[in-house]
Formats: sequence, C-alpha cells, structure tokens
Amino acid sequence: MALSSSHHILLLSFLLSCYVPLGLASRHWPVGGSTRFYDFKVQTIRVTKLCKTKDIVTVNGMFPGPVIYAQEDDRIIVKVTNESPHNATIHWHGVRQRLSCWADGPSYITQCPIQAGQSFTYEFTLFQQKGTLFWHAHISWLRATVNGAIVIYPKTGVPYPFPYPYEEHVLIFGEYWHKDMLQLENEVVASGGSPPPAEAYLINSHPGPRYNCSATDVYKIDVVPGKTYLLRLISASLNMEHFFAIAGHKLTIVEADAEYTKPFTVDRLMITPGQTINVLVKADQPIDRYDMAVGPYMSAQNVTFQNISAIAHFQYTGATLDDLSLPAQLPVYNDNLVVNTNLHMLRSLNATNLPSEIDANLFFTVGLNVDECHSSNPNKSCKGPSGGVLAASMNNVSFVKPNISLLQAYYNNINGLYTDDFPGVPLKTYDFVNGAPNNIPNNTQSLIGTKVKVLEYGSRVQLILQNTGTVTTENHPIHLHGYNFYVVGYGTGNYNPMSAKLNLADPPYMNTIGVPVGGWAAIRFVADNPGVWFMHCHFDVHLTWGLSMAFIVKNGEGSLETLPHPPADLPKC
Ligand code: C2O
Repeated sequence: MALSSSHHILLLSFLLSCYVPLGLASRHWPVGGSTRFYDFKVQTIRVTKLCKTKDIVTVNGMFPGPVIYAQEDDRIIVKVTNESPHNATIHWHGVRQRLSCWADGPSYITQCPIQAGQSFTYEFTLFQQKGTLFWHAHISWLRATVNGAIVIYPKTGVPYPFPYPYEEHVLIFGEYWHKDMLQLENEVVASGGSPPPAEAYLINSHPGPRYNCSATDVYKIDVVPGKTYLLRLISASLNMEHFFAIAGHKLTIVEADAEYTKPFTVDRLMITPGQTINVLVKADQPIDRYDMAVGPYMSAQNVTFQNISAIAHFQYTGATLDDLSLPAQLPVYNDNLVVNTNLHMLRSLNATNLPSEIDANLFFTVGLNVDECHSSNPNKSCKGPSGGVLAASMNNVSFVKPNISLLQAYYNNINGLYTDDFPGVPLKTYDFVNGAPNNIPNNTQSLIGTKVKVLEYGSRVQLILQNTGTVTTENHPIHLHGYNFYVVGYGTGNYNPMSAKLNLADPPYMNTIGVPVGGWAAIRFVADNPGVWFMHCHFDVHLTWGLSMAFIVKNGEGSLETLPHPPADLPKC
C-alpha cells in the first residue's frame, strides 16, 4: 500500500516539477528543488477492531493515512477531495506556514470546511524545516482516524547530526472508540460531562494483544541484531498523554517537534498529543521479541481512563515465534517526576534566534471551568461537577468558533465575528493552582466569546502558560500554529518572576508543550509570520470545551512580510 502510493507520488512529483508554476511567494524561497504533489481523498471505510465493526473516516482508505515524504524547503501541494459525507479540513501540524496561513487548515480559524463532494488544494513550503511532523483533520474529533506522518529529510548531502540509522520507522499513537467520533463529540457536549475513556490505545492503528479480540492485531518491527533504528514517534491521540517504552532497550532522544535536540538517553518517555519525538534504539539485547508499550499518563484527578497499554513488537530476526514477548516497564500513570525530568533534559542542539528582549509580556491561565447548566429539563442536571457543564478556558475565556473563518473575517474586514480584546493577563489574579474554589459552578464560570490577541509584526513575545486548579490541575498540551517557540522555563506551582529560572542558552524549540500539572511554562517566539494563528490545548475534548484562542499577527512591510491573497478555491462558508 505504501509502496504503490509512493511510486505514484514520485512519478507525479517528477512530472509536476516540469511545469507547476510556483506561487507568488515562492519566487523568494530558497527552493529545496522539488514540488511534491499528493492527492488526498477523504473517504469512509469499514473497519473491524476489538471484535466490532464501524465506519471510520480516512484519507485514501488508509489508517494511519499516507506519509508525506519531502526534503527541507520543498514545496508541497496536496489536493484534498472530500468524498465523505462529513465536513473536513486537514492541518499540517508543526508546518510553520510562512506566508501561507490560508493553507494551515484549522476549521473556522483559517478556512471554512471542505464540504462533501468539494475539494481544496493546500500549498505550502517546508521552509527551513526538517524532521518528523504529522497532518490531521482539524474539525470535530475526526483526527482520531484522519492522520498521517510528514517526514522531512535534510537537503541532499546534509547528514543527520547523529549516527545514521540502519532503518527508520514511523509509529503513530492513537485512541480508538467504538462510537462514531462525531456522535461521541455531540454526546459529550450534550451531557456536560467528561468523555468516556477510549476502548483502546493504538500503535499504527493496531491495539495489540492486551485487549479483547486483538491477539493478532499487533504492529511489529523486525530488527536485525546489532543495528540502530530511528523511530519517529507521533502522538495523534485525542484526549490522553502517553508513556512509551521498549522492553530492555534504551531510547536516545535526538529530535522533538522536528527540531534537533542534544541527544539524551532514557528508559521511557512521555509524549503529548501533538508532539513528535525521534528516538534512536540500538538492537543490542539477546535475540528475542520485545514489547513496545504505549500506556496512560494521567495527571488529572478523578478521571476514568483506559489503563491497558497498546503493545507492538520489536522483534529480532531469529526470535522464536512461540516465545512470549518481554514486557516493557512503563511508569505508573501519574508519575509526574518522569515527565519533569524528561522536560529538564530536553535541550536544543542549536538555539538560534532566541529573543532576549521582550516586546509583549503575556500571561495566560490554562484550565477547566464548570459553567451553569442550561439543560432544557430543569430536573435533569448536567453531568459536570455539581450538576454544571464542564468547560475549559485560557484567561478564563472559553473560545467559541465563529461561523466563517477568523482569517477571512480579518482579511476582508468583516465586523462582528470576533473582538480583539483577548486579555494579555488574567482579569482576576488569585492563587491559580490552589486557590480556585472547586465545584462551585458560580465561581468557576468562564466568559464565553470569540476573542483574539493582536500582535504587531516582529514583536518578541514571552508568554507564561499557567495551569489552574479549577476542577483539577492537569498537564495540558498547548499547541501554537504558525510558529515554534522556545520553552525557556517551566516549574510547579504559580509562576513567580522573581524566582523562576529561565534557560536562555539551549531551550527546546517546540510547537506543543505539555504545561506541567499544577505548574507553568514560559515560551518565547518572534511574531514574524502574518496571519491568524490558533493556539489551543491538543486534547480534543478541551478544544471542544473552549481551551483555545487566536493571535492575529499583523503584516509588516513589503511582500516578504505580508500575507498573500487567499487561494481561489478556498472553501465557501
Ligand atoms: Cu495539531 Cu490545531 O492542531
């Protein structure tokens, strides 16, 4: 399946490189040499997992979907045709979309959905990017099955900054429910309560032998003793963070969110939804079959979650097949220490362009709320704490999607769809981590609105992300579109500028940061890419509940600092 589609792609990209006219902005790019064309058809297929059959939405009938292979600075053109009955968009997670905000993909932020039967062609350049990223549906909860890897190799002749692996493999982690994902989201919203735990975790769509009916539904990598493998780990999970480990083997982290890191070696790691981590694994153990395990990291209190791990096999050539595989040791589900230790060790290989001066000092709280129940039946209270409705917010604002995209509203000066008064600091200051009154709907109510924060072109931004304890503290994977940011600091408790230690030497350069449970993270970036950029928790349920906001980054001067016109085929609202 992968083979035939990549042949197809090679042929097409060869043909296209002869005549595809490059867009207006492309004249200025240091073009990597190739334009790569992909054809994505959003299609529904029937699958059977864990002894039950259901219809899932996919790209090209594949789950996980097709891999986009490219080199740094390549131009990517993906024609997405929606052959499913549902609205669809695709987001290229981690692609910085320099001057191509129109191709970013979050529904109602940069575009309206591609309706059934329609198509839209995404065009963007992988400008100065290399490593592992991924693409996923950015509408409702369709990401569960509409996802795939983006593998960007360095330019020809440029080596990896680590020993060349014998082979590479992509491992996409996910979650699986028997329910239809659109129906599941609707039910969660209607109830006001928490989502049900996943039926299973998945590794490249396989749950592995620990779940019912799945003894043979196991992903496997065959390995040659003595060789070193590069595993490109991607979390496409919806609502769970995961620990990952391989029995008996160490993991050397060499890249996170498609940026090289100083190599460091661990027994296990945590990966949040939206993160990608490349690890080197040396097959240096006795010939056998070893488990690769994906289990839960759950930092919140009183949440029910799937506690059974997904298992894949790391299988040495020559291992006898009736052998039981060796079990991997994962941390316990709430081992925050492992998470913080890993974060501490994550350092950029080269941190260039880290702003030392700051123009915009922002402070956003990140957490949950309990809003008033508006159930039509007054006797039937909602399923959230104290009979309220669970919500989530940044600076206590629960984001509401507009019904045409923010980018179109901004670009065309359409009034009344959003306001530009997203607060740069919380409107109320309190002991964020400990002082929030729990379970009192009146005091945990969020503001509801479509608010954005406007940034001048080129402003150097520092943003403190502070977790709150309302309902529960929790590690939230916060993702910013259109940029990577330096994670210059993090800690537990409330951020205190007097005592916070910042790393301005070699901080990691990420697109998604798991803000420590009951703690904070400080990020920095230069707002030099004009457009409307979504920032949100990468747990889909928190996104649904409003844990998001958008930045508008204004144009600068001249064509290299100005957002171009929208593409002619931008979907109609
Ligand atoms: Cu990976 Cu806004 O998403």
